[in-house]
Amino acid sequence: MNKVIETILNHRSLRHFEDKPLTDEQIKTIVSCAQSASTSSFIQAYSIIGVKDKEKKKRLAEIAGNQGYVENNGHFFVFCADLYRHTMIGENEQKNVSPSIESTEKFMVALIDASLAAQNAAIAAESLGLGICYIGGIRNNLEEVQKLLKTPEQVIPLFGLAVGIPVKLTDKKPRLPLEHVYHEDEYEQNTEVYMSQLHKYDELISRYYEERTGGNRKDRWMQQMAGMLDKKSRMYMKEFVQKNKLDLQ
Ligand SMILES: Cc1cc2nc3c(=O)[nH]c(=O)nc-3n(C[C@H](O)[C@H](O)[C@H](O)COP(=O)(O)O)c2cc1C
Repeated sequence: MNKVIETILNHRSLRHFEDKPLTDEQIKTIVSCAQSASTSSFIQAYSIIGVKDKEKKKRLAEIAGNQGYVENNGHFFVFCADLYRHTMIGENEQKNVSPSIESTEKFMVALIDASLAAQNAAIAAESLGLGICYIGGIRNNLEEVQKLLKTPEQVIPLFGLAVGIPVKLTDKKPRLPLEHVYHEDEYEQNTEVYMSQLHKYDELISRYYEERTGGNRKDRWMQQMAGMLDKKSRMYMKEFVQKNKLDLQ
């Protein structure tokens, strides 16, 4: 197995970091790797904001639901969908780009671009021996994140990425059975096959939690998912995105 595959397969989210900032060189390497990701039609519709200011990190940690590792890490990146740049380009080139920029398609393109860049950054960081944890919790209050980071209209902060020197490794979380995620030629819709794969995974996850918690926790994955999806969350999002003149048509 080569080193890249080893790094990818060894992934786990880490949430305890040493109190040591990343070097400028490490930050540059991680961002350059993010920028090397493929990008739809060369559009590069994302921006990355590195947050160093202690007060801002503290506030972001609170917004994210008091997640301490948003404040305590080696560096905190915020990945944003960004079509502001392209509005500026439209003005510069005197072209009517608004209807395209405001479309759902272009919003999806920006989300995809930002996510691909982020995952390149995550793998780069992990390959340097650093730990990472994505932070969707910042979407609890995007209005405030936007003010805090002074992002213009058409720049939507999507998630954070906490990076740092790991204090201790956690166990790797098992994923769904490969044959449940990977279909060949057509989507597997046989309910018996489909559900038996999910039940098999339920058992695996239940055992995983049981072993990790000395028997205190045995929840199944389907139970976890249904429990989460049973409640609505961050329902302000559509309004927020549209207020920022994106995903309008
Ligand atoms: C976009 C995104 C947002 C996430 N947000 C959070 C978060 O706010 N807090 C957290 O502790 N983990 C967060 N995670 C990490 C997931 O919980 C984690 O990836 C998942 O449980 C699988 O565990 P693993 O990464 O250790 O394999 C996020 C992951 C992604 C991809």
